[in-house]
Amino acid sequence: MEKGEHKEEPAAQTEGEVKSGEKEEDKKEEPKKAQEEEKIRSIVLTGYGGYSKVQIQKSRKPQPTDGRVVIRVHACGLNFAQIIQRQGIYPSPKKPPFVMGMECAGTVEELGENVTELEVGTRVVCLMYNGAWSEYVSVPVDDCFPLPESMSFEDAAALPVNYLTAYFMLFHCANLGRRKSVLIHMAAGGVGIAATQLCKTVEGVTLFGTASSSKHETITANGINHAIDYRTEDYIQAVKKYAFPILEVSFNKKRICPEGVDIVLDSLGGSDTKKGFNLLKHLGIIVIFGNASSVSESKGLFSSTKNWFQGVTFNPMQLFKESKSVCGFDLKEIGNFPELKKEAMTDLFKLYREGKIKPHIDHVFAFEEVGKAMKKMHERKNVGKIILSPMKEPEPEPEPKPKVASSKTAGSKTAAEAEVPKEGEAEAKTEETETKPEKEDDKKEEAKVEAKEESKEEAKEESKEELKEEPKDEAKEEAKEEPKEEAKAEEKKETEEAKPDEKEEAAS
Ligand SMILES: NC(=O)c1ccc[n+]([C@@H]2O[C@H](COP(=O)([O-])OP(=O)(O)OC[C@H]3O[C@@H](n4cnc5c(N)ncnc54)[C@H](OP(=O)(O)O)[C@@H]3O)[C@@H](O)[C@H]2O)c1
Repeated sequence: MEKGEHKEEPAAQTEGEVKSGEKEEDKKEEPKKAQEEEKIRSIVLTGYGGYSKVQIQKSRKPQPTDGRVVIRVHACGLNFAQIIQRQGIYPSPKKPPFVMGMECAGTVEELGENVTELEVGTRVVCLMYNGAWSEYVSVPVDDCFPLPESMSFEDAAALPVNYLTAYFMLFHCANLGRRKSVLIHMAAGGVGIAATQLCKTVEGVTLFGTASSSKHETITANGINHAIDYRTEDYIQAVKKYAFPILEVSFNKKRICPEGVDIVLDSLGGSDTKKGFNLLKHLGIIVIFGNASSVSESKGLFSSTKNWFQGVTFNPMQLFKESKSVCGFDLKEIGNFPELKKEAMTDLFKLYREGKIKPHIDHVFAFEEVGKAMKKMHERKNVGKIILSPMKEPEPEPEPKPKVASSKTAGSKTAAEAEVPKEGEAEAKTEETETKPEKEDDKKEEAKVEAKEESKEEAKEESKEELKEEPKDEAKEEAKEEPKEEAKAEEKKETEEAKPDEKEEAAS
């Protein structure tokens, strides 16, 4: 295996694979009942596109093989990666169909040969890259970490991807030290919450966090010193110029970081990478680890793709003249360094036991509600971690409210009504049936995936042209114009949400 190519987990076989891989005679011999009993549920990505591409399928229960254990799964983490995997824009994508999910927690049920480190019944968390969203998983013993007694399965499933990513970025890439200043984008997301808590373990760190204003209370309680609503405020201005800490009267404006920050954790990519780089002070470092700005509902496909290509504009002379660093991080690579991973997990468990870190669980969804869970993340409605559990029953849909005709609302939907998901929140049914998707969302997603390839080329050409311009000036312009554009896009989105019929017309 080459460096960077982490070995993929042999995910549970889906029904289709079971059928093609089985000999007819064997099948006859097996009593039907026993076969039924062996079947387990997994969440499978069947193709790129909308929520309906994510389906619950039945497959055989995995057997423990050499050096592996079989885990009965209690809780799984949903990550941003699965949103972009479904859309087909994940870097180096795995070809569907496959069982999704990078992390899960549960109990060891069976041991393979040569496994001495774990016992049946041990509670563990596993980092798997793919294949974790299943009732039972087979995992190499090195990728299982026994849990502290006090840790719930939900907290455990929220740990590996978010906290390991934040941990390596802060303590390995950026070498976070005392009294540094850090800008954390998506501060209310899983990695954002984790990064904030880990920063707070170091003395005197000043934290700026971007998030929607409705989430500011949570991120401030989590440790962010200066919450920035990126939708209405330019974060560069907010960091560099003034801030209004609670209790500080407005005429006593305080300059916080006029020279910029020491560390930017860049999960947005695209033009925000340039902005982040320009926001660094002398000896600062930007850690690039995501490309969320390419996954935008308010921006069109063309501008999203263009945004992706706009990110790469550093030249070595600029780095050395400005004494700044650019760094990248991908958790997948850590698969090739088991010792590093083990050490970091041990540290994280210690911090958890000491009460210094604690995942913020947004909601626990049943497997059947995976579409609903993904939709919540995609629409930026989550605060912290979304968990999927094979043990949980789906929540009953709320009764539709009786329509009250009033002179003001009769014949037209209010924005609030338009937001209530009417027809199946991408709810998955069992037994290889399609999920029940938000049909409009699905159509749009599929159209996006189809158009993606064409737009990429177009965007490449255009961004090549733009990259010839002086990056600093461009960033300055963006700093001026970005908030206005964002606000307009947001306004447009809200208007569209209030008019679902018009939206559908536009999509077609
Ligand atoms: N390199 C790695 O190894 C690695 C590992 C894990 C995660 N990541 C990256 O880290 C980033 C955060 O991941 P996460 O799992 O923490 O995310 P998450 O929990 O899904 O965070 C979602 C929140 O981020 C905000 N957000 C900002 N821009 C967004 C956008 N374009 N689309 C959706 N939400 C957006 C939203 O909050 P507001 O309403 O406040 O905007 C949303 O609620 C992603 O870019 C992901 O790809 C990278």
